[in-house]
Amino acid sequence: MTETEIRKGLAGVVVDETAISKVNPETNSLLYRGYPVQELAATQSFEAVAYLLWHGELPTPEQLEEFERTERGWRPLDARTLALLDTMPVGAHPMDIVRTVVSQLGTFDESLHLPGGWTNRDYDFGRALYLFAQLPTVVAAVQRRRRGLEPIPPRADLDYSRNFLWMTFGELPSEAAVDVFRVSMVLYAEHSFNASTFTARVIASTTSDLYSAVVGAIGALKGPLHGGANEAVMHIFDEIGTASEVVPWLDRALAEKRKIMGFGHRVYKKGDSRVPTMKAALDVLLEESGDMQLAELYAGLEREFVERKGIYPNLDYPSGPAYRLLGFDTEIFTPLFIASRVTGWTAHVMEQAASNALIRPLSAYNGVDERHV
Ligand code: COA
Repeated sequence: MTETEIRKGLAGVVVDETAISKVNPETNSLLYRGYPVQELAATQSFEAVAYLLWHGELPTPEQLEEFERTERGWRPLDARTLALLDTMPVGAHPMDIVRTVVSQLGTFDESLHLPGGWTNRDYDFGRALYLFAQLPTVVAAVQRRRRGLEPIPPRADLDYSRNFLWMTFGELPSEAAVDVFRVSMVLYAEHSFNASTFTARVIASTTSDLYSAVVGAIGALKGPLHGGANEAVMHIFDEIGTASEVVPWLDRALAEKRKIMGFGHRVYKKGDSRVPTMKAALDVLLEESGDMQLAELYAGLEREFVERKGIYPNLDYPSGPAYRLLGFDTEIFTPLFIASRVTGWTAHVMEQAASNALIRPLSAYNGVDERHV
């Protein structure tokens, strides 16, 4: 690449190395620390996958037990977080609420107050686990508040997925539904240098702290070209209504040059490696619910769009309907993505810090020539 060649959106630019995940669009595969994500989704708890992303290896039973003990202990919210939630308008977007709470959580971390504290990376594993443990409690409370309901405290006798669903709904769904949720968390956890992860790495590269990196990453994730797509998919489904409306709706949408949310990917051009696993999980919920209308709409839009444009669904396409069938509000879908992706973001913050170079690209000036007042 010559110095003046500009790659808009950094498309095709290799910015750095990473040992955390490998995306191979040619073979349509995604590896976390070497393991195919489908294998992890089939066999591992989300807690074990988080451990893997941070430490590079799956935990031994003893390591997992210790990890879970700490995680469960760090789930309850501080009274000041509950108070902060009450100050925010119920109608505010949950992404904005969660972003604000993560910022507050950073202020509680006393290791940041120590001299040189925020650049002392020895604390980062603990910080990452603290956010991992707190986020489900925050997201569940935000979901309940939207419905005029009080938060439900976490339960230390439940694993991550069961506790998350318990705190949100006050009851546990079927074991099959719990598993769908776990699978979605595993699939969303990490995806190399996507926009939010890159944002987190840019912030980490200034030797800022891990919480600041996560706050910035949440801001990047919110956009519908990135994480906000899972929410946007459901808005599209609501707009279309029924499978019989797919064709006229798509005619109009394409004539208006609209982007069809949940389709397309910067890296995958022949299909997203995570979609078959998430689609199988969605099928479990579709069968359980008997919601044939949603099943037909899903299949109809996919068939029609792929046929016309040759652009395939990404992970947000099956996960949006799955989260609806689990009972979440549409606006909570992207915060669920935060709860999962915080693992990848923080792994990247630690990796960036371990061999840091300030990320500071160049730009080509195209404004007016030099002039004088
Ligand atoms: N709907 C309609 N057209 C799409 C499309 C979509 N979802 N995704 C790509 N395209 C078209 C573009 O309009 C463009 O067409 P053109 O060459 O005629 O202008 C072409 O495909 C290339 O798209 P572009 O947006 O430049 O590619 P990209 O690599 O920058 O895009 C995304 C990747 C994800 C931003 C894009 O596919 C998109 O906006 N998808 C919808 C949002 C989404 O689901 N995001 C979640 C990603 S995991």
